[in-house]
Amino acid sequence: MNDKQIWELIRSLTLEEKSALCGGINSWQTLALPEKGIPSLRMADGPHGVRREDKAHTRENGGPSIPATCFPPAAAMAGSWDTHLMQTVAAAMGAEARSQGVQVLLGPGANIKRSPLCGRNFEYFSEDPLLAGEMAAAWIQGVQSQGVGASLKHFAVNNQETKRMSISAAVDVRALFDIYLKPFEIAVKKAAPATVMASYNKIGGVYSCDNRWLLLEILRLRFGFKGLVMSDWGAEDKRDAGIAAGCDLEMPASHGAGTRVILDAIQAGTLSEDALDTAVWNVLRLVFRYTAEDRPSPCNYAAHNELAAAAAAKCAVLLKNEDAHLPFDAGKPLLVIGGMAENTHFQGGGSSIVNPKKRTNLLQALNAAGQNYTYMPGYAGYGRDAALVQNAAVAARNASQVLLVLGLPDLFDCESYDRTHLRLPDNQLEVLEAVAAANPDICVALCTGGALETPWLAKVRSLLCLYVGGQAVGEGARRVLFGLENPGGHLAESWPLALESTPCYHHYPMGPNEVSYNESLYVGYRYYNSADVKVQFPFGYGLSYTRFEYSELSLETAALDEGETLRVRFTLANTGDVAGDEVAQVYLSRPDSALYQPAHTLVGFARVSLAAGARQTVEIALPYARFAAYDPSTGTDVVEAGRYGLHVGDSSRSLPLSAQVQVAGVTLTPAAPFSKSGFYGQIQGNTFPAAAFEAIYQKPLLSNMPRQKGTYTMHTTLGEMHRSAIVRFFKKRALAVARKSMQSSQDPLASEKALRASTDDLPFKNLVSMSAGVVSPEAAETLLRAVNGKGGLVRALRMVLKSWKGLKRNDLLSNE
Ligand code: BGC
Repeated sequence: MNDKQIWELIRSLTLEEKSALCGGINSWQTLALPEKGIPSLRMADGPHGVRREDKAHTRENGGPSIPATCFPPAAAMAGSWDTHLMQTVAAAMGAEARSQGVQVLLGPGANIKRSPLCGRNFEYFSEDPLLAGEMAAAWIQGVQSQGVGASLKHFAVNNQETKRMSISAAVDVRALFDIYLKPFEIAVKKAAPATVMASYNKIGGVYSCDNRWLLLEILRLRFGFKGLVMSDWGAEDKRDAGIAAGCDLEMPASHGAGTRVILDAIQAGTLSEDALDTAVWNVLRLVFRYTAEDRPSPCNYAAHNELAAAAAAKCAVLLKNEDAHLPFDAGKPLLVIGGMAENTHFQGGGSSIVNPKKRTNLLQALNAAGQNYTYMPGYAGYGRDAALVQNAAVAARNASQVLLVLGLPDLFDCESYDRTHLRLPDNQLEVLEAVAAANPDICVALCTGGALETPWLAKVRSLLCLYVGGQAVGEGARRVLFGLENPGGHLAESWPLALESTPCYHHYPMGPNEVSYNESLYVGYRYYNSADVKVQFPFGYGLSYTRFEYSELSLETAALDEGETLRVRFTLANTGDVAGDEVAQVYLSRPDSALYQPAHTLVGFARVSLAAGARQTVEIALPYARFAAYDPSTGTDVVEAGRYGLHVGDSSRSLPLSAQVQVAGVTLTPAAPFSKSGFYGQIQGNTFPAAAFEAIYQKPLLSNMPRQKGTYTMHTTLGEMHRSAIVRFFKKRALAVARKSMQSSQDPLASEKALRASTDDLPFKNLVSMSAGVVSPEAAETLLRAVNGKGGLVRALRMVLKSWKGLKRNDLLSNE
């Protein structure tokens, strides 16, 4: 259907039909109007495989969703620094989505890893916006190459899970544009995603879904986005404000509540019909485009499993390898210790959970390869078991090759809540101590969704990080451990020495009302390098079974003019005995800037494969725009004139080659707080006082005093209102139903924790949208007054009773 026909169709629709088209009809589908020739479009999570729910695949029926390939999640994929691989993997996901009748796959997640504690970091790519943006763009290109739409999420500044549905992010403009919005900008401009998902949180006090500035001025006008904006699930606050702001589709179904709000606002003249028509236009364009492409096409799951294994191997990051301890010798027996060799942590918990078509843990991979090995669990689950530890240590004493598999159980890697520390579980640390004491020659393989503290590093000879490697992680790991694949992954995030040394340590997570991003631009390595703070493993770091040498850096020009591309060339040599991949990185420094600047900023990278003994000239092109940054005086991206340093190497802390280029541009005269001599120009440690931050934020900060009875609002979370018996009743009910219908993790403990966190952090207003139409907006208002002790208790109780009857019928929170 062409644009003209869509407009004609819109003209033929009633107001009711148009309003209803702007909301889902259940958890996953849009409204069909068969008599008008409008089909329904189906979505599914994302982002590392397809989670297509259907009636036959419920928790009770042996699987929470239709089986699909679970590819390595974003945290692992980003470690490959390989956009081509990301695109190939995403194309396979697109093919599976299509074969399962899914027209929009909900991913990728492009949020920045502000803190290693974020519960959702396993779903996100990096602490660096360029790497996150390029990987997200590759994801979108891959999925959309299969005729399936992507949904770039969570737009924007959703960097903590704590209170994610009500928290407001306070970020200064430079950090906002150059760090937090940047990956979205890159992905939108480069890959044109079919949809963008607006995040749960507020930015500067305004919910993302209702944020006209964010969705219209930034996303559409500045970034040139032409697709559809949908709400994250339950993120819409005021549907009329959402339509006016450019949030075209509310998900999931609000069971008529959203439609009514839109109709009332149009009738009252507070919302224009034009704004509604624009939203309908975006909905219909998406629906017609992707349902037209929806021809069933079988896909090859066996080939995808092999791709998942190959990807897992390419993502693995070798963090330590003393005296070439790895690879293991396949001709000798291997002692494998660690419950995770069997119950391998291969994905995180929450909405992204994939029911894997096949699973290969490490032991299965060793069996299939005929490897001679012995297995000792050492630990199991979360509990301590002295006998298991003892047996493992005894076995390790005389073993010639020992592999200890450790990692985060699901409980520590889950959507809906943040981690509270960066340690491995105590029962695993105990095994590590005992085994390392029995045999100093051990290799540790880590399965984790994010950075960990490794104070035990000196006790192990080698360390391989598999991240969360997807369903075939066991086979991917085997190939790397035995040298069939040379590890070439590099860290896409810094691994700090200790949580206390992370830049946002004093401001993460925060709540209940506001989280302030006091560290401004100093996220991850931008902070560690600027403040000269030691890390355990720097951003960009990764070893190999071979060695690489960098030499002969040359810049094509010493003076770059406006609009030109700078070609950075250097020689990379593989000076070892085996073929391998290197991730070469180019960073910028800005000694002449009038603004405060991080010491280094990643501006280019390339994953290069080289045969043993080979040399190659590597060229990395830096378009003029790579030198641009947000200018707080004009509110535009500009290139500041002056000297720029370019630094080349294999991590943010190992940059052997440097050169300078003079770049043409504008002269900046920033306001004092943004200037080089301002507070942020002289950062020392991670203390970023509120006064300094307020000067760059240029708005007063909100109070984080919890609300008391009498002042609760529709946005107060159920957890904050726990003193109220009515609220406790609803929370209990919501939990019970959610427990029956949702599975957040393979691990019941993690599932339960996620469900409790989600219900605790649910704003009161969401009782309306998430109660299958049972709690009306009026009932919610009356209830809230009663909860606030402002009377109307009898009326409220009557409504509660009425709702209660409805609840029994409709299952609060089930949405379907
Ligand atoms: C998550 C989204 C997800 C959606 C649908 C939300 O809770 O934040 O990432 O796509 O649920 O499952």
